[in-house]
Amino acid sequence: MAVDTQPPTADTPAEHHAVWRGPHLLDAGDLDAREIRSILGRAKIFEGTPPSEVRDLLRGYRFANLFFEDSTRTRISFSTAAQRLGADTLDLTAPGSSVAKGESLIDTALTVEAGGADGLVIRSKAAGGPALAARHTGIPVINAGDGRHQHPTQGLLDAYALSTALDRRDFDLGGLRLAIVGDIANSRVARSDLRVFTALGASVVFVGPRPFAPTALSCLGCEVVRSLDDVLPEIDALQMLRVQFERHGGPAPISRRQYRHSYGLTPARASRMKPGAIVMHPGPANRGLEIDGPVADNLLPTGPRSIIRDQVRSGTLVRMAVLAMTMGR
Ligand code: CP
Repeated sequence: MAVDTQPPTADTPAEHHAVWRGPHLLDAGDLDAREIRSILGRAKIFEGTPPSEVRDLLRGYRFANLFFEDSTRTRISFSTAAQRLGADTLDLTAPGSSVAKGESLIDTALTVEAGGADGLVIRSKAAGGPALAARHTGIPVINAGDGRHQHPTQGLLDAYALSTALDRRDFDLGGLRLAIVGDIANSRVARSDLRVFTALGASVVFVGPRPFAPTALSCLGCEVVRSLDDVLPEIDALQMLRVQFERHGGPAPISRRQYRHSYGLTPARASRMKPGAIVMHPGPANRGLEIDGPVADNLLPTGPRSIIRDQVRSGTLVRMAVLAMTMGR
């Protein structure tokens, strides 16, 4: 039985079915609340459907995963998602492909399209790489992270994991106050989360030292504050960002010791969070810097609940939804 013949469940009302305009997914800001709910609703259906009922949904389709920057979570979950739906995958990385000989992103994308791909999943070091490929090829392109710009499926999976953890019907995040903490200036995750979380009704605050969270980021439509300790007691969920040393282009603008002292989610700091509060991290984490192991791994006897593993699990479901819907299934 094909999954799109399933009746909507209580969590996925009929009006949320297949409203995503597609076919590209380049920027979380391109999605309105109905489209986001449509994608998350499809992921919820996949979560409740036996694997045997979806294993032929994309049989005969072929996705090319073009990863020109390192990845563990995104890459394996796009591959797993495609395989669970019966699609073939082609995996290309910069070393090991003609990109290493200087072939451009556009030529690579056109070559892979000509080779038979039906869709491209692209991670690029440069902002705008997936959008460029979308303009030059005739097949759907999904942005798997481009520079500091966007990581739309991360925003979607974070909203899925959070709304599930808080038992929010219809992915409604209304009334929640969420903090995104750390190296926001270098984070595509922060930009995507902001778009998805606010579209679903949450209020978002960016928290970090000035070099990581310049006041000018308030032009994105959220508050920017310096002190994590001041906002901590009123926050429903924290997204702790990785300090992106590889993007600093030199010495980090704040020492590790100073950063950990003011922003590290230590057990002592976590104990000051609201009862029932949630801790998130998109990964990969610098343990002992932005988050301590016992907090990340839920080893504290009391305190907030880490849903970091649920974020990863949600990634496969949300990417199954995106792959299926981008092919009109
Ligand atoms: N969160 C995320 O994008 O992780 P990877 O870089 O491992 O894909």
